[in-house]
Amino acid sequence: MALWSGRFTASANEFTQRFGASLPVDKRMYKQDIAGSKAHATMLSEQGIISHDDAEKICTGLDDIEREITKGTFPFDINDEDIHMSIEKQLIARIGEAGARLHTGRSRNDQVICDTRLYLKSRISNVMRANYQFSRVLEKLAHEKQHVIIPGYTHMQHAQPVYLAHHLLAYVWMLSRDFKRLHHSYEAADCNPLGAAALAGTTYPLDRQRTTDLLGFSAVCENSLDAVSDRDFVLDTLYACSVSAMHLSRLAEELIMWSTQEFGFIELSDTFSTGSSIMPQKKNPDFAELVRGKTGRTVGNLVSLLVTMKALPLAYNKDLQEDKQGVFDSLDTIYDCLTCMAGMISSMTIHEDAMERQAYTGHLAATDVADYLVKKGMAFRDAHRIVGHLVLLCEQRGCALTDLSLADFKAQSSLFEENVMHELDIPSIVRARNSRGGTGDKALAYQFNVVKDVLHQQ
Ligand code: ARG
Repeated sequence: MALWSGRFTASANEFTQRFGASLPVDKRMYKQDIAGSKAHATMLSEQGIISHDDAEKICTGLDDIEREITKGTFPFDINDEDIHMSIEKQLIARIGEAGARLHTGRSRNDQVICDTRLYLKSRISNVMRANYQFSRVLEKLAHEKQHVIIPGYTHMQHAQPVYLAHHLLAYVWMLSRDFKRLHHSYEAADCNPLGAAALAGTTYPLDRQRTTDLLGFSAVCENSLDAVSDRDFVLDTLYACSVSAMHLSRLAEELIMWSTQEFGFIELSDTFSTGSSIMPQKKNPDFAELVRGKTGRTVGNLVSLLVTMKALPLAYNKDLQEDKQGVFDSLDTIYDCLTCMAGMISSMTIHEDAMERQAYTGHLAATDVADYLVKKGMAFRDAHRIVGHLVLLCEQRGCALTDLSLADFKAQSSLFEENVMHELDIPSIVRARNSRGGTGDKALAYQFNVVKDVLHQQ
């Protein structure tokens, strides 16, 4: 019999029991459910609402239950609907009337969201740690490979040469913003709904600040209707996970490209690759592809809850039970993706020669040759056109800018002199891009320092 069966004459059938149950999803919140119940019982007894003796029995009974669930010996029953009823029913079965007093001044509506907030706080913290660790992996690699030059791209075409370190640090910045978004969702979750009861508060003299302190929340949800129906913090978490997944997916995509025959910039380690069942030569970047692929479902989880929430009237509606599966999945997924990327990147081989070879193709010095003319007084647009003609000449001859003679340069503009050849030197070009945030040696050194500070603050 369900704990709420008093006004019913028939019970749910097997199908409705199963369809209505959230136990398979929410049982992972058992520790939070027990912590919430212990805090509630402690507060009830301190307020004289239940006896100290009952509160003690409740807490001891709950500790036993927690141990059993952790050990895997707890008798879960799908007919109990969710983790809250499963635990409460067992508690009553074990300690009797004291257990039946636990739900005084409480509803599953404030209970479930209290558990969810506590659970998310702990999971978000884990993801933040994984985010930080992955940032450190990228930062370390950037440090080690400071001298390596790669082509920078726009439209996937060679654009200007950049340091590999600069490219890697771009992702560290994305990750640092992901960290902030995760932190924001942690703060959004950090508010105590317990005591809102079903929707309207209660006549019992509850001390909500006490449960807030006992559970380590930093604030109290001040409106009982909002407390039981607010899922903003879940959406914030889903959004933070989605943006983070999107960033990882962009990096995964680059690793996939970089590991192709065409690029040959990197080789992923065997641990982070798989073979083909038919083609013996294959070494596939499956794990990078999976990180890219899992982004779809992470974004799906966000959209799913947004749609669920849209037009939901106040206060609790059973639709809200659908809030957990997606966010649990997104948190698990993003944690695994961060762990996977950290392992993949720290174990891959970097082919510096292939990277640098590409940095010397595609006329990457063109902008600097135009800037050379500008420094000699020419308007940038005119310089751009003239260098365009030089590039066209190279394309027609099938050669590089460095293969042109001074006469070829002078034929386009009399401003060209012997020293234009220095402008074609790829390492000098990279080294000199020292505007703040640029790839140049000095700008990059500065950036490394800022990144270090940012990571230090995390
Ligand atoms: N299993 C429910 C959920 O996850 C708990 C709250 C149920 N409340 C209710 N009034 N039916 O949302």
